Amino acid sequence: MFWSKTLKLAGLTSLMMFSTAQAATFDKAETDIKYRQSALTMIAINFSDMADMVKGKKQWDDSQFQLRAMQLSHLVPMAHAGFASADSQEGNTKAKSEIWKDTAGFDKKFAKFTADTKNLAFVSARGERGDIKKAFGQTAKNCKSCHSDYKFK
Ligand code: HEC
Repeated sequence: MFWSKTLKLAGLTSLMMFSTAQAATFDKAETDIKYRQSALTMIAINFSDMADMVKGKKQWDDSQFQLRAMQLSHLVPMAHAGFASADSQEGNTKAKSEIWKDTAGFDKKFAKFTADTKNLAFVSARGERGDIKKAFGQTAKNCKSCHSDYKFK
């Protein structure tokens, strides 16, 4: 689906006599957007399963929680990588242009998110329920903190 759409777009752009360089840039931006949105979707799925355990909506399962936390910590750098190109502020995205105007501020948010999710994975592996809940609460703050500055609703 994605590739056939890309091919169609490539055909269109050559019809419109854009340079191949512009067509290549456009394809890359679409790929970046898909890449980061996919990673963020998986972040949200892993995160909400842990939230259900923390809130007692679901039976606590140590090994499931550890797996979720480990996966989350691996997904964060993948989501970050999807924001590399400023060209990807155009298209089917809710990313604000502030991300590329204030790269240092945005990278700082991701650095905190990375540190908190790594800590959560570390603490979950030790199995102390109180510490895990605290580390989870710390991780949870990152979502809103970044979305309110860098994501359209
Ligand atoms: C450092 C910034 C940052 C952090 C931290 C962050 N997000 Fe996001 N998130 C974004 C941005 C920016 C977008 C918009 C991406 C786009 O549309 O291109 C987004 C989009 C999303 C999406 C929509 C994905 C899609 O398919 O369009 C979900 C779901 C999401 N975030 C969940 C979360 C959750 C849950 C957390 C916390 C565990 C979180 N995010 C933490 C920046 C962040």
